[in-house]
Amino acid sequence: MAVIINGKEISAKVRLEIKEKTQKFIDEKGYAPGLAVIIVGEDPASKVYVNNKHKACLEVGFLSEVYRLPAETTMDELLSLVDKLNNDDKIHGILCQLPLPKHLDEEQVILRINPDKDVDAFHPINTGKIMIGNNSFVPCTPAGVMKLIESTGTDICGKECVVVGRSNIVGKPQAMLLLQKNGTVTICHSKTKDLKEVTKRADILVVAVGIPNFITGDMIKEGAIVMDVGINRTSDGKLTGDVDFASAEKVASYITPVPGGVGPMTITMLLENTLTAAKIQSK
Ligand code: GUN
Repeated sequence: MAVIINGKEISAKVRLEIKEKTQKFIDEKGYAPGLAVIIVGEDPASKVYVNNKHKACLEVGFLSEVYRLPAETTMDELLSLVDKLNNDDKIHGILCQLPLPKHLDEEQVILRINPDKDVDAFHPINTGKIMIGNNSFVPCTPAGVMKLIESTGTDICGKECVVVGRSNIVGKPQAMLLLQKNGTVTICHSKTKDLKEVTKRADILVVAVGIPNFITGDMIKEGAIVMDVGINRTSDGKLTGDVDFASAEKVASYITPVPGGVGPMTITMLLENTLTAAKIQSK
């Protein structure tokens, strides 16, 4: 039976370290790292995420500003808020919660954020830096996955790493981070032939496809580390991952649960990126 990785506990430990580093930063500089979060519209999941981000910032001693804009906000209004925050010295990180309402162009908004304040690491400058291996910021979810792999004491060097999913937010940057650690990396997606044959090779398997219970125990190598990025809501309102936990935990050596695995690490990594942003801008 696999060891279940406690993302909540690891997250709490890392947040405590960030809180201490933040206090040191405040003592040295005389001001706190500042994060501005923009949310447009009334998406219920986004509202919960944004409230959690705000609370987490306050807990570690950051300045936190939340801009709640109505669903009918225009592109011009949104871009002028981004401009204002780009020019605000108290704000070191800017995050525009996605998805945006359909009439707004997410790519244009991301491009407008000053790359030094892009704590999501979604701007092409930052995604390019990740490709080169010279990143200041790493997208929060893949960064969280790396911390959880690290927590198992496993050396990624030379390991077969398989990433299922190729999104810009998780799959692609995840593959780059594993490659930076000298993993042998394969990216799988909906067109991959004989997926099981590929996933079964993985010493480290990261799944981010957004399909409940997509990966089952028979697709996993004995002793693999399994990271489940999926957060799916079932018809009875429960949260479930992309991995069928019951069959997977019988073969894996380590596995993340949903909820309580990768999820809690995501905001923690946002805090880390914001502190990094404040340090970069203080130079
Ligand atoms: N929506 C879901 N996840 C994220 C994230 O990591 N950043 C932003 N900005 N929006 C999201």
